[in-house]
Amino acid sequence: MSSRPRRPAKPYRRPKKDPVRLIAYEALRAVDERDAYANLVLPPLLREGRERGDLDGRDAALATELVYGTLRRQGTYDEIIAACVDRPLREVDPPVLDVLSLGAHQLLGTRIPAHAAVSTTVELARVVLGDGRARFVNAVLRRIAADDLDGWLEKVAPPYEDDPEEHLGIVHAHPRWIVSALWDALGGGREDVEALLEADNDRPEVTLVARPGRATAGELLTGEAVPGRWSPYAVRLAEGGEPGAIEAVREGRAGVQDEGSQLVALALANAPLEGPDERWLDGCAGPGGKAALLGALAAGRGAALLAAEKQPHRARLVARALRGNPGPYQVVTADGTRPAWRPGSFDRVLVDVPCTGLGALRRRPEARWRRRPEDLAGFAPLQRGLLTEALRAARPGGVVGYATCSPHPAETRAVVDDVRRHESAELIDARPLLPGVPSLGEGPDIQLWPHLHGTDAMYLALLRRT
Ligand SMILES: C[S@@+](CC[C@H](N)C(=O)[O-])C[C@H]1O[C@@H](n2cnc3c(N)ncnc32)[C@H](O)[C@@H]1O
Repeated sequence: MSSRPRRPAKPYRRPKKDPVRLIAYEALRAVDERDAYANLVLPPLLREGRERGDLDGRDAALATELVYGTLRRQGTYDEIIAACVDRPLREVDPPVLDVLSLGAHQLLGTRIPAHAAVSTTVELARVVLGDGRARFVNAVLRRIAADDLDGWLEKVAPPYEDDPEEHLGIVHAHPRWIVSALWDALGGGREDVEALLEADNDRPEVTLVARPGRATAGELLTGEAVPGRWSPYAVRLAEGGEPGAIEAVREGRAGVQDEGSQLVALALANAPLEGPDERWLDGCAGPGGKAALLGALAAGRGAALLAAEKQPHRARLVARALRGNPGPYQVVTADGTRPAWRPGSFDRVLVDVPCTGLGALRRRPEARWRRRPEDLAGFAPLQRGLLTEALRAARPGGVVGYATCSPHPAETRAVVDDVRRHESAELIDARPLLPGVPSLGEGPDIQLWPHLHGTDAMYLALLRRT
């Protein structure tokens, strides 16, 4: 009896460590495990990678794209992965799921060739999960690689005609309740909401503000930077432009600020006012972007700004943003719902209230999957309390701006309408205060949109205290 010769075992090969994928994986784990924010955890990981000599600029850009892209489309990738594993996703270990999502994004959301996407992800799995689970990852990724994104979407999304919101949610990677809320706020048809959802998936440009009296937009127009679309103080940096490399930014004469935020501050500052215009209040100032612009505008008119913020560490950021302001200002740590100021003592008041941030989804890739519809109710009393006290802080005839970076009607018009039931105030048409900016809505409040204005979806209602 002859025994069959045994096949020689494959020699063991150490897995290759790929710093880009390792850093991307670490960031995904931190977001998943510790509820961290990608825009906060990734920069130090990239810095450490650079200091170790593991990463150059292109590697850092790739790691960023992998993390942001994977997180942004997480819900869609989950549907696709679920179709490729033989158990419910909740039974797949979270670290394994993170590796699979990273692989799915490389296969379906980047130009990385399929063989490289699979092999680099399997090597990563060998390093962080071990050889056994790497084999599972390999098998699942091969199934995913059998089709492209469009093919998968056809398989995992219901037809638009059967369920428009679910279809759009899967195709454009938004939870269904957010599709529904955004569509309600935007109005219009399928094309309109699809343009918005797609804009949420684009990385926003970096926009600078030249703080008036301290810097000029012209001074910031270096290299490939171009003027802003709407704000006279805005400059848009070219892709990869580094704000920290600009002297005026380092000196605090300019800052990074979305053009929508600039427009909110400008509209409040431009609102017509009879009588004195000497005392301005920002009642929710942290981290200080709008306060710094308001402070500079106030200084140009001889007015003083009081910037209030409840969180001490954020109040320190406000103080930093206002440092060097050319006119009088004060920063206080204070609760805007229990004001430390006398009623009726301000000519202009801004409250840019805490909100769900549904208007800034393009900045926080994980936010859309973390937010819950119940969060709206959580913010509601605070939003009403802050607007009520803002109105009480304004003198008769004074102007109050109520702003959110959410277009959700529960955080915008519903708050304004409710507060006006018990506070005496009339709405001012904010649209003529931003001449040249189209599509601001039916008024009198304004709503900006990423797909129409290239800004965050900021909302602003202007009210006059009567
Ligand atoms: C949307 S952010 C404001 C952003 C700011 N206007 C800017 O442009 O940089 C809302 C801020 O309100 C603060 N806040 C929350 N509750 C507050 C309260 N009761 N009184 C004052 N500030 C509060 C938060 O800490 C947060 O910094």
